[in-house]
Amino acid sequence: MKLIVTGGAGFIGSAVVRLAVARGHEVVNLDALTYAANLANVAQVTNSPLYRFEQADIRDRAALDRIFTAHRPDAVMHLAAESHVDRSIDGPGTFVETNVTGTFNLLEAARAHWLREGKPEGFRFHHISTDEVFGTLGADGQFTEETPYAPNSPYSATKAASDHLVRAWHETYGLPVVLTNCSNNYGPFHFPEKLVPVVILNALHGKPIPVYGQGLNVRDWLYVEDHADALLTVLERGAVGRSYNIGGENEARNIDLVRTICALLDEMRPQGAPHDRLITYVADRPGHDLRYAIDPTRLREELGWRPSVTLEEGLRRTVDWYLRNEDWWRPLLDRQGVGQRLGTKVAEGAS
Ligand SMILES: NC(=O)c1ccc[n+]([C@@H]2O[C@H](COP(=O)([O-])OP(=O)(O)OC[C@H]3O[C@@H](n4cnc5c(N)ncnc54)[C@H](O)[C@@H]3O)[C@@H](O)[C@H]2O)c1
Repeated sequence: MKLIVTGGAGFIGSAVVRLAVARGHEVVNLDALTYAANLANVAQVTNSPLYRFEQADIRDRAALDRIFTAHRPDAVMHLAAESHVDRSIDGPGTFVETNVTGTFNLLEAARAHWLREGKPEGFRFHHISTDEVFGTLGADGQFTEETPYAPNSPYSATKAASDHLVRAWHETYGLPVVLTNCSNNYGPFHFPEKLVPVVILNALHGKPIPVYGQGLNVRDWLYVEDHADALLTVLERGAVGRSYNIGGENEARNIDLVRTICALLDEMRPQGAPHDRLITYVADRPGHDLRYAIDPTRLREELGWRPSVTLEEGLRRTVDWYLRNEDWWRPLLDRQGVGQRLGTKVAEGAS
């Protein structure tokens, strides 16, 4: 298959690009190269004849039309997005532009391409979304595909809006879409503003490890390479018009996740141990969802997919990767906003 992967220079998109090329797919990586992007994430496939890169912004409809016409893809996997909740609190406008308007542009460019090609049955528009669209859970229960949407942050609200557009483009225009909503990812190549790499890198530098609130928020952690595998499974075998929840079957409280990473570092890099002495509780994120949990029954029963990696094993691989790849993460520490507390500007008025 020939795929356009948007956001393929980001964390999850690059895992999809690497896996798709390894499985023999032709891949066009379409990415604007924002602060969150890094072409080093796809270095292992850059020289493959199956790989192409197009620098383009999904807010630019003309650029999208040019790329669809030039490459004539069999499918689109749409991962490009503004993805950091804390940044969405400080500056929601970019999130609306990229996540909502950008998805609209991509849907329209894909629909025009699909019509030009004579509506091929096998064409797919795969929209990659998040479990955060469902809002928050109490101590019990899990999100299913039928859970009503109730997003709480500007980030999740824009992702929810994009999910609705994708669904409507299927219902109204017949565009063959599939949707996935997945839980928190972690693993190699994770940009150092997200929790897992922040913990690893702050611990390595002997800096305070910030934990929001009391660290009691629960997430279902999914190893990024498992996610990429699940996405290709849904792309190839998912039913048109259907959405699938993807989870890691690995629920953990943030504080327990942080302590596990500290213990792994104590074992793998004993200088500075015990690393959990660096844990520092900081003011909570505004509107911080308490708990997310995924019911993965549909994906398991209809497509036979399950995660392959436990949280313990995935974290061990991740810590090991960061210890061996300082050349990758060191330059990213100088990027705008990295290492700063973001998402605190709620009292400052409109952006
Ligand atoms: N990270 C998670 O835990 C998680 C969980 C569930 C769903 N998701 C979803 O998966 C997708 C990928 O997430 P990620 O963590 O890899 O994000 P990321 O921030 O690491 O990467 C996003 C990529 O999109 C590109 N991009 C941003 N705006 C663009 C634009 N206007 N035009 C073209 N490219 C643009 C960036 O340059 C970057 O390479 C997102 O849609 C996100 O909502 C992420």
